[in-house]
Amino acid sequence: MKKKIAILGSTGSIGKSSINILKKDKKNFEIILLTTNSNYKELLKQVKDFKVRNIIINNLKNYLILKKKLKNKKINVFNNFDLFNKKFNSKIDLTISAISGLDGLKPTLDIIQFSKKIAIANKESIICAWNLIQKKIKKYKSEFIPIDSEHFSIRELLNEKKNNIEEVIITASGGPFLNLPFKNFEKIKPKNAIKHPNWKMGSKISVDSATLMNKVFEVIEAQRIFNININKFKIYIHPKSYVHAVIKFNNGLTKILVHDTSMTIPIFNIIYDKADKSIITKKIDFSIINNLNFQEPNKIKFPSLKLLNKFSSKISLYDTVLVAANDELVYLFLKGQIKFTEISIILKKILELKEFSKYKQIIPTNYEQIYKLSRYVRLKTFSLSVLSQKC
Ligand SMILES: NC(=O)c1ccc[n+]([C@@H]2O[C@H](COP(=O)([O-])OP(=O)(O)OC[C@H]3O[C@@H](n4cnc5c(N)ncnc54)[C@H](OP(=O)(O)O)[C@@H]3O)[C@@H](O)[C@H]2O)c1
Repeated sequence: MKKKIAILGSTGSIGKSSINILKKDKKNFEIILLTTNSNYKELLKQVKDFKVRNIIINNLKNYLILKKKLKNKKINVFNNFDLFNKKFNSKIDLTISAISGLDGLKPTLDIIQFSKKIAIANKESIICAWNLIQKKIKKYKSEFIPIDSEHFSIRELLNEKKNNIEEVIITASGGPFLNLPFKNFEKIKPKNAIKHPNWKMGSKISVDSATLMNKVFEVIEAQRIFNININKFKIYIHPKSYVHAVIKFNNGLTKILVHDTSMTIPIFNIIYDKADKSIITKKIDFSIINNLNFQEPNKIKFPSLKLLNKFSSKISLYDTVLVAANDELVYLFLKGQIKFTEISIILKKILELKEFSKYKQIIPTNYEQIYKLSRYVRLKTFSLSVLSQKC
């Protein structure tokens, strides 16, 4: 029987990597649902290629275009998840949740009820609402798998008891500015920041990789998923991105997971799970293994890393303050409205505002609360950014 798949954010980098794997083995997969924000042209190609029966497109104008284009076809075209939820009543074997930003939270929560397995790339949702995701996963007896390469690797390495862990190392390539002198950081343009040396990713996560904020997110994400004390995580620069996670156990063993620098590998392993299926990859690269070159990150060049000290092993709405403020700052930087260096400066200011510190004590109880706070934080971040331009 064909495995039933859904991809949220199918037109993005993770979405397209997933589609490319499925394309090579169409006879074994049926795509039940694809979703996008506005890229209807790419979505249309995917729909035709896989004879997809359900699609959700967020942007109203493009939804209407698509609906017209598909009017004589037996395809359910939705403009949002609420309508899809009402009509759909089947089970999906594997859902890949790969919408970018906090917008991915509600769709991820909504799709769990239909998913036997849910693989989540959308780190913003995990950071802000892991307790809500976990609750739904338990309720609907779904299985969770992380997609992010570091978290996928930690999961692969973790067959020991969790309290036997002494240290977990999350590796960072260092992004495009690892070797750029700090004095030149002021001149960094969006087009430079989205050019990652090792990974091809969407623009938001590429900027987060350039500021190293992505590593702060990854530590919080890993803490939430694996419930390991946040103080046991360390971030090391490893420019070749060959090692994805290192775990030292208190029985003297240290496990290291290495794979080629491609998201295709974790996604392939998630799609095929324990099936006997092989993927063509490069030979073991001893030139890299002999030169792993782990380095402590430079916190003067990458001050975002210092923000990790403000976060604990306890989930709270303060996580939403971080994610929402950073989302807004990256957006403003990409639009050319703030400088690269201002992202971490303004982010620190926002996190230190008295009005937000109370959220450290509040555990999120529903997604509306997260979205409401996120909208407020983004507005506050925007006004602070405008003020900083005037000074
Ligand atoms: N890329 C990677 O290698 C990587 C690795 C680890 C984790 N992640 C995480 O995976 C997620 C996706 O990353 P990505 O690089 O694939 O992002 P991306 O290339 O920007 O793609 C994002 C996808 O989400 C859709 N989308 C964006 N906003 C939406 C909205 N408001 N409503 C519905 N759909 C929306 C986009 O549709 P349109 O195409 O129409 O805009 C697109 O399909 C992020 O959370 C990222 O942190 C990515």
